[in-house]
Amino acid sequence: MGAILTFLFVATELLVLLYFVKWKKSPLYKLPTVGGFFFPLLSYLGGLNTLFRGKRLLQYGYRKYRGRPFKIPLLSGWVVVVSNPAVMEDIRTRPEDQLWLTQALMNAFPSYHVTGKELWENTWLHDLILKDLTRSIGAMLPDLIDELEVAAQEFLPGDGDGWVSLNPSKASEDIIVRAINRGFVGFPTCRNKEYLDLVAQYSHGIVTAWASALIFPILLALPLSIGRFFNAAPNAARKCTQLLKPILTERRELLQRKLEGDDSVQVPIDVLQMVVEEGVARDYSDERIMIRIMSTNLGALHTTSMSLTNALFDLAAHPEYAQPLRDEIAPIVAAEGWTKQALHRMWKVDSFLKESHRYNGMGVLSMLREAMTDVVLIDGTVIPKGTIVGVPTFAIHHDKEKYPDPHTFDPFRFARLRAQDGNETRHQLSTTGLDWVGFGHGRQSCPGRFFAASELRAVLAYIVMNYDLKLEGGGPRPKNFFFAVGLVPPPSGRILFRKREAAS
Ligand code: HEM
Repeated sequence: MGAILTFLFVATELLVLLYFVKWKKSPLYKLPTVGGFFFPLLSYLGGLNTLFRGKRLLQYGYRKYRGRPFKIPLLSGWVVVVSNPAVMEDIRTRPEDQLWLTQALMNAFPSYHVTGKELWENTWLHDLILKDLTRSIGAMLPDLIDELEVAAQEFLPGDGDGWVSLNPSKASEDIIVRAINRGFVGFPTCRNKEYLDLVAQYSHGIVTAWASALIFPILLALPLSIGRFFNAAPNAARKCTQLLKPILTERRELLQRKLEGDDSVQVPIDVLQMVVEEGVARDYSDERIMIRIMSTNLGALHTTSMSLTNALFDLAAHPEYAQPLRDEIAPIVAAEGWTKQALHRMWKVDSFLKESHRYNGMGVLSMLREAMTDVVLIDGTVIPKGTIVGVPTFAIHHDKEKYPDPHTFDPFRFARLRAQDGNETRHQLSTTGLDWVGFGHGRQSCPGRFFAASELRAVLAYIVMNYDLKLEGGGPRPKNFFFAVGLVPPPSGRILFRKREAAS
C-alpha cells in the first residue's frame, strides 16, 4: 500500500513538473501579458477581469506595446493581440487551414455542445450570404422599403402624436428584425409574431449556451444530446420548422418545378429560398434548413440593430446634422427613388453610420482567428495551435495617427475623404481595411456587411427624412458600456421622436 502511494505521489509530481516545463516553454510565455497572470488557473481569473475591463486593457496594451504583440486572457483562453499593419496583412491573407475565424468563434463563444459542430464547420452559408444575398440586395430593396414604412408606422410616432419618448434599442430591434426578415424569409412570415418570437428564443438559447460554457467549461464535454436537452434553442428550431412547414414544402416544390425546366416558376428572392436550394442539394431536412435561417438572424440582428441604436443616439445628440443629411437624401430620392444606386450615392448617410460605428465601437476585438497548426507570423511571433489571435478594433479606431481627433464625433469625416480624387469607392462603411476593422478584414470578414450597410443606409435615411429626433432631457448622449469583448448600448437612454409634417 505504502509503495502504491509513493508511486502515485511521484507520478503526480512528475506530471506537474512536465506541465510546468511545457508551460514555460510555450511561445506564449515570452509575449507580454496584459490584464492577468500567465499561470494555470490564474488566467481564468484574468478572463473574469477582462469581462469588465476588456476595452481599457486592450487600449492600455495597444498604447504600451505600440505595434508589438501582447496577450490578454479571455474566459475561453488567451488571445494574442496584434496591430502592426504588416502582421494584420499577414493574418488577412492566411488560409483557413492555418488561421480560421470559425474555429475561433466556436471556441471563444462556445455553443457547439448545443448546436453540434457541423453547423459551424460547414461554412457554405458564408459564401451564400456574401455572394447570393449581396447580389440580390437591389431586387430586395423595394420590399425592404415597404417593410420599413409599415414597421415605422407600428413602432414610431404617427402624424399629430407630437414628441414621443422611445427606448432606441427597442425601437431599433423592432424595426431591424422586420426589415431583415423581409429579406430573409419574405412577406408575410417577416411579420409573423410567433416566428419572430421563436427566432428570439433561438438566439437567447445560444447566448445562454455561450455564457454557461464559459463559466462551466466542463459543459463542453457533454454529449450533444444532454446539452440540447437543457437549452431553449433546439426546441425553438423544432417549433419554427413546424410553424414554417407549409412554406418550406412550397419552396421545395417551386425549386423542383424550376429544376424540371418549368420557366413559368418565379422563386421568391430571399435567403430562405437560397438556403432551401443549397439545402436540397445537400439533402438537408427542413429543420437543418431552418437552423441556418435562425443562425443567420443571430449574426445579423443584434449587430445591425446596435449600429442603428448608436446612430439614432448620435443623431438625437446632434440634431444639427439632420439638415445636411436631408439636403443630401431628398434630391437623390426625388430623382431615383429608394434604389440600391440611390443609397450608394448617399455618402453623408454612409459616413454618419461609419463614424457612429467607429466612435462608439461595437466589439473591442475582431479578425479573431484560431491557429489550426503552429503558425509563425511575419514578425516571428509564434501562435501555437489552438491559440486565438485578434486585433484591437476599438483601439485602432481611436488611434489619432489613423483618425485625427479620434474622440470627437465627426459624422462626415468619411464623406470628406471620399470626396478626394480617386477615393470615391473607398472609406465606405462596408469597405474593410487595416484602419477599419468593424466588420473584420480579409477573405474571412463579415459576409453580411453589404446587406447590413444597405439596410442601415435605408433605415437611417428614411428616419431622417420622416422624423425629428432629440435626446430626452437634453445632452450629452448616455454612454455605452462594454462587457467582455462586446458593446452594450445604454439601456436606460431615451430619445424623443416626432413625425415631420409633410415628410416625404
Ligand atoms: C452592422 C452589422 C454587422 C456587424 C458590425 C458585423 C460584424 C461582423 C464581424 C466583426 C465578423 C467577424 C469577421 C472577422 O473577424 O474578420 C462577422 C462575421 C459574420 N457575420 Fe457579420 N456583422 C454585421 C451584420 C451581419 C449581417 C447582416 C449578416 C447576415 C446577413 C452577418 C453574418 C455574419 C456571419 C455569417 C459571420 C461569420 C462568418 C464565418 O463564420 O465565416 N453579419 N460579422
